[in-house]
Amino acid sequence: MDSWRQRARALRDELVTAGKLSSPAWQQAVLDVPRHHFVPAYYQRRPDEPGWHLVTASEDRERWWEQVYANLSLVTEIGAVPDGGRDATGPVSSSSAPGLMTRMLEMLDVQPGMRVLEIGTGTGYNAALLAHRLGDSNVFSLDVGAGLVESARQRLAELDYHPTLVTADGIAGLPEHAPYDRIIATCAVPRVPWAWAEQTRYGGLVLVDVKVSAVVGNLVLLRRDADQLTGQFDGGAATFMQMRTPTFAQHPGQKPERDRRHAQRHVTGLRLERPWEHGVLWFLLHLTVPGRIEFGYSQDPDTGGIGAMYLYSRDGSWCEVTTNADGTGQVWEAGPRPLWQTLEQVQQFWAEAGQPGWERFGLTVTANDQHVWLDNPDSPHRWPLPA
Ligand SMILES: C[S@@+](CC[C@H](N)C(=O)[O-])C[C@H]1O[C@@H](n2cnc3c(N)ncnc32)[C@H](O)[C@@H]1O
Repeated sequence: MDSWRQRARALRDELVTAGKLSSPAWQQAVLDVPRHHFVPAYYQRRPDEPGWHLVTASEDRERWWEQVYANLSLVTEIGAVPDGGRDATGPVSSSSAPGLMTRMLEMLDVQPGMRVLEIGTGTGYNAALLAHRLGDSNVFSLDVGAGLVESARQRLAELDYHPTLVTADGIAGLPEHAPYDRIIATCAVPRVPWAWAEQTRYGGLVLVDVKVSAVVGNLVLLRRDADQLTGQFDGGAATFMQMRTPTFAQHPGQKPERDRRHAQRHVTGLRLERPWEHGVLWFLLHLTVPGRIEFGYSQDPDTGGIGAMYLYSRDGSWCEVTTNADGTGQVWEAGPRPLWQTLEQVQQFWAEAGQPGWERFGLTVTANDQHVWLDNPDSPHRWPLPA
């Protein structure tokens, strides 16, 4: 059986090969910090079985070893999550995929002596990587989960790492230890808290996954100037869990009853079977129609197969699209916002702009305003982030 050091070396090699890790200093951190120490157990779903299963070293040793040293995100805590206005149970903490963590740490451009604040301590693994690189006195990490912080503190101390750990709501940052050279958030936010800008030195960086709704958005690297944070989105993908804060909880609202008799009907040339799979386009739609947009398929009552693709938003707007014999789409839509027509307009803009990817978009955050822009901060193409 491989030792953990052999497994850590294999993980390091995998991340280097995948282009997610390059700097010798972060490679050394991955080699020296035992991830298994921070993830003694994790939850997984199993095909055809309800609920979450706990995988532990004692019950499923080989699987645990393999997955802990694989480039996988592992769910480490289950709790109440807002879901459709009802309280449901789901992941509330995880050890993010190591390749995502190392990619973010490299994007942060950390230099010796810098002070870093992490929002989202979770298991403490990322805090350990930071402490390995920067020393205890330069690393600050907070989490809203008191139990998570205490477990992380204990695990870090067992490896002789002693960064400053605090139980707090990350929305306020950690003013008592500011200023920081870098802030890294490992939970997603719909808007960047201005407190983070105030706690970052001029020229410092904030790296955060901005998600205007669950899985709608991406990582953005922001530089602190005198009165703003500004910077570009990252071309890669990141899917952090949303920050847990009452004011950030998002509910899709009532599912509207889709009664075609009361809908506008028109034909569309836009054929997008799964618009939610086009990340940038879906993001632009959410910037144009604020609030969470739900999606799915309804059944064809005659064939039992897929009948119509539908979208709906919290304000009661909905659309349904089926395919006509000539290949065009048949649209029904109703409610305050014509969702499909808005998608058509957004798609036309996106196509005319050359189908820009994430890296052509950026975000500027000031004390009073947050807006996304295309190509440069002064661009006429700007969208306010929904409040
Ligand atoms: C992906 S996990 C963090 C992983 C962690 N960096 C690690 O290395 O294990 C996201 C964390 O964000 C935390 N979180 C969620 N909402 C928060 C909030 N309002 N303030 C601070 N932390 C929050 C969660 O409790 C969770 O532990």
